[in-house]
Amino acid sequence: MSAAITGLGTAIPERIITNADLEAYLDTSDEWIVERTGIRERRQAGPNDTTASLAIAAGAAAIKDAGLVPDDIGLLIVATATPDQALPAVSAFVQDGLGLHCGAFDVSAACSGFAYGLVTASSLLAGGTIKSALVIGAETLTRFIDPNDRSTRVLFGDGAGAVVVQPAPDGMGLLGWDLGCDGSATHILQIPPGKKWVEMDGREVFRRAVRAVVDTSARTLERSGLTAADIDWFVPHQANQRIIDAACDRLHIPAERTIVNVDRFGNTSAASIPLALADTPVKDGDVVLLAGFGAGMTWASAAIRWQKEAQS
Ligand SMILES: CC(C)(COP(=O)(O)OP(=O)(O)OC[C@H]1O[C@@H](n2cnc3c(N)ncnc32)[C@H](O)[C@@H]1OP(=O)(O)O)[C@@H](O)C(=O)NCCC(=O)NCCS
Repeated sequence: MSAAITGLGTAIPERIITNADLEAYLDTSDEWIVERTGIRERRQAGPNDTTASLAIAAGAAAIKDAGLVPDDIGLLIVATATPDQALPAVSAFVQDGLGLHCGAFDVSAACSGFAYGLVTASSLLAGGTIKSALVIGAETLTRFIDPNDRSTRVLFGDGAGAVVVQPAPDGMGLLGWDLGCDGSATHILQIPPGKKWVEMDGREVFRRAVRAVVDTSARTLERSGLTAADIDWFVPHQANQRIIDAACDRLHIPAERTIVNVDRFGNTSAASIPLALADTPVKDGDVVLLAGFGAGMTWASAAIRWQKEAQS
């Protein structure tokens, strides 16, 4: 048995931070940001937004989209790098906020977290004990970015995206996946102990990110019995337009089949792939390839043959 995405929901904070807003107080320019990253604007959590509140809004929308009610959900996974507090997990607040009656835990795999959560949920569904799972990627990254550090401030944004995963017949839903981590690179993207803000070696992250996306995607394609030509929609983690372009080039996936929303949202970490999925004009039978990378370094990819309706 496999697992398919049968519901999708998103939540984005109202406040838009444009490149012009950043130009006004940082030594940067719209031209530099667009040319080096492709980002034009990003969202920023308001005073009443939390990682949990964004996750709850996205999760409620996904449950509704799947035609389910909270009691139908048998497992909750929240992927986040920006929990509102260290203890308890964000998923506990989300479980309560959504009125779920099921197990709940967080996944901490940075920008790969959503794909890690999706693969975990799908594997548990395949065991047959649960009939549906809710996987949410939610972040309030701007709270962990030094507002005066131009090298990170321009890149990151806030938001949440959620999917409901339910059993699918063999050949539909999740076809193959790859999860990985190279913990020798923890230092290139981190909030060091006792520090408040994200610190990043941008060039090194860039170099490794392209390689990670290409290699994990190739492994998932091979395990799924697919080639790049079979991919209808490539949904990469949205960190930088140039990383996406370089990866697509090496994977031989054309731009027309690649989903990009980094211009509108910047890098929303674990929320990035589900937010991009919401922008994907996918139809039943299409093959979607998701690929993420992030702090750790972690990477994750999954190939899915789309089927919106759950198996009855
Ligand atoms: C951060 C990133 C956009 C920088 O782009 P780059 O082309 O590598 O630029 P460099 O780091 O070589 O910096 C070039 C110059 O621009 C400057 N610069 C950095 N940020 C700037 C900004 N916002 N505005 C203007 N100049 C900036 C640098 O200080 C540097 O100046 P110098 O040459 O005088 O030292 C790019 O490296 C990147 O996207 N890396 C991956 C980051 C990422 O995806 N992180 C999340 C992973 S999940």
